[in-house]
Amino acid sequence: MSFATAPLATRVARADPASIMEAARVLARGGLVAFPTETVYGLGADATNGQAVARLYEAKGRPSFNPLIAHVLDHTAARALARCDANAERLAAALWPGPLTLVLPKAPGCAVAELATAGLETIAVRVPDHKVARGILAAFGKPVVAPSANRSGHVSPTTAAHVLADLGGRIDLIIDGGPTPVGVESTIVACLGEPILLRPGGLPRAAIEQALGRKLADAPATLGRADDTRLAPGMLASHYAPRTRLRLNAREVAPGDVLLAFGSTPPKGAGLAKAALNLSEHGNLVEAAANLFSHLRALDAAGGTTIAVMPIPGEGLGEAINDRLARAAAGR
Ligand code: TXA
Ligand code: MG
Repeated sequence: MSFATAPLATRVARADPASIMEAARVLARGGLVAFPTETVYGLGADATNGQAVARLYEAKGRPSFNPLIAHVLDHTAARALARCDANAERLAAALWPGPLTLVLPKAPGCAVAELATAGLETIAVRVPDHKVARGILAAFGKPVVAPSANRSGHVSPTTAAHVLADLGGRIDLIIDGGPTPVGVESTIVACLGEPILLRPGGLPRAAIEQALGRKLADAPATLGRADDTRLAPGMLASHYAPRTRLRLNAREVAPGDVLLAFGSTPPKGAGLAKAALNLSEHGNLVEAAANLFSHLRALDAAGGTTIAVMPIPGEGLGEAINDRLARAAAGR
């Protein structure tokens, strides 16, 4: 059977106790369910079912060397999948549930399908902090692998409509729990020795350093190059990409541009923009993160030649926002 040639009737259901039970049933029979987490919408499959995981890669069009995050309800469930050293214990105790993913050595007897970890000796684990995600995990009772619920290489979805646009006809069910509050993916930290920041994300670096009581090392510079797929195989430089070219740190608008603004001071020539959206009029980085992917999608559809992006400060969630923008701009 080929999944690609047999389109599914993707159902969208509002999040409520009945649809959450339905989501658990679909997962149990190997189906694919998109659901909200506090960061972005995830596309869930039964982590222990290799066929379901294969179907998930197929639906996303994701290269199978790119491993998935296993989502569980709590720290105890995480310990059944992965070994936590002292740093991981500290981070988990202080910051789970929340937008933090830990990359850890796989535990002996880890039930997650080999395909989901792409054959690595490590596994990415996360305990989400969202009512709907937690309801599904509780009802299902097993780990759920969930990449962001977009076609591979597209921008992550922060609403059910985004998921439907990318994956309609390719997955079984979408649970609509409204827009996701954080808006960028989880922060990924590897605890395989000295803790390393693999991906800035919805939890600012400072919160992690405070819980650790030390500075976080940055990922090695080779990371993200196509030839170094050991630590974070998914962190290829070109990712999170709209079709329209991006111009970062734009201080003026050129004819044909669409504008992604930040703050209350318009750039030079702002009136020339074919369309404009503001990440946060007040210059609030939390609000900006929540708006980032939906504004990128909307501007991508607005028919500009370039998306001009105003400079965004690098502190707090600004680190994750600038990381996603740099990836979206890479190689286009
Ligand atoms: O916020 C999030 O993390 C969302 C929600 C749905 O939970 N999920 C998400 O998953 O962003 P995804 O698959 O789009 O991104 C996961 C990243 C990928 O870059 C992948 O390569 C990396 O985590 N990853 C997964 N397992 C890994 C491992 N064992 N070692 C290093 N990187 C890993
Ligand atoms: Mg993703």
